[in-house]
Amino acid sequence: MSTYYDNWLGFYEKGVQERKNAKKVIYPEELNWVRTRQDAKSALLVAPENGFKTVGGVTMIGEIPPGWKTGKHSHGEEAMYILEGNGFSIIDDQKFTWETGTCIRVPFGAVHQHFNAGEKPAKYYSAVAPHFEYYCNVAKIEQFEDCGPYNEQPPFTKEGTDYSEPGVRLVLHQKDAYKPKRGEDHPHHQSAFTESHPEQMKKVHHSQIIRMMGINEEFRGEEVEITDVFVDRAHNATEKHAHMEAILYILQGEGYSIIDGEKIPWKQGTALHVQGPQTVHQHFVTSDVEGHELRTHFGIRKFVQPIAKKTFPYLFFEEGHAL
Ligand SMILES: [Fe+2]
Repeated sequence: MSTYYDNWLGFYEKGVQERKNAKKVIYPEELNWVRTRQDAKSALLVAPENGFKTVGGVTMIGEIPPGWKTGKHSHGEEAMYILEGNGFSIIDDQKFTWETGTCIRVPFGAVHQHFNAGEKPAKYYSAVAPHFEYYCNVAKIEQFEDCGPYNEQPPFTKEGTDYSEPGVRLVLHQKDAYKPKRGEDHPHHQSAFTESHPEQMKKVHHSQIIRMMGINEEFRGEEVEITDVFVDRAHNATEKHAHMEAILYILQGEGYSIIDGEKIPWKQGTALHVQGPQTVHQHFVTSDVEGHELRTHFGIRKFVQPIAKKTFPYLFFEEGHAL
């Protein structure tokens, strides 16, 4: 008779099979655009609903038409990146302005709403973790207002700062982001994960990294972070390596990645899922323009990776090279 323990013994293989059968990439032409109470137009990218096996996280994109606002709501932690446009957000009654390339952190439970102040549609990328929160019994989304046009400016208590309180940054504009020089060794995230892999993390992995969330204590998330824009030179390959879950969204350029032995082409608007726990992968830029990849990870990785490093070490296999 098989017992619960036999079931446990099968967990690893079961996970391997489930990950093998899951989706690893989604292209912009595959997106299922819908209108929701929150967004005039939104589409899930890497999400369980789209056939990806994430550890409870979701990435998506949304569009706010000119003259419109999103719904007003609260939920778990969110990390956003403005792909295009300009406007502002009211987060817990405070006003924060944004433009193309701005990264926004919405703290867990904060009431927030986004307003397009420009002439064109504003497009944003977002990472949230509703499935993870549900698993942890803390999923709670509350809707206070639906999306729609706005005529009057909303009330707010404070503006003109990127901080919610001294020392707690909620907004980082690309122009203010830390950008180490090309080829220069760069400080990595000050996290338990980085500290547990000091040797591996010393390597220069991309030709340049524009640092956003997680670089220091003033701008970091617990549940979800949009950590960097990786800049990879035209006709170049990154190192081959393996680690736990991460999601890449292609902002610019064309190329392909070899993920778990499978060649996956990409272009602007593609989202790639590096599933983990030890997904071997390498990225290749084939276009004449640089590859710009937005990197997202979920906070559970920062918890699991250090404690699981004996079984699932962070791995580097070879250095990057020119194609
Ligand atoms: Fe990677």
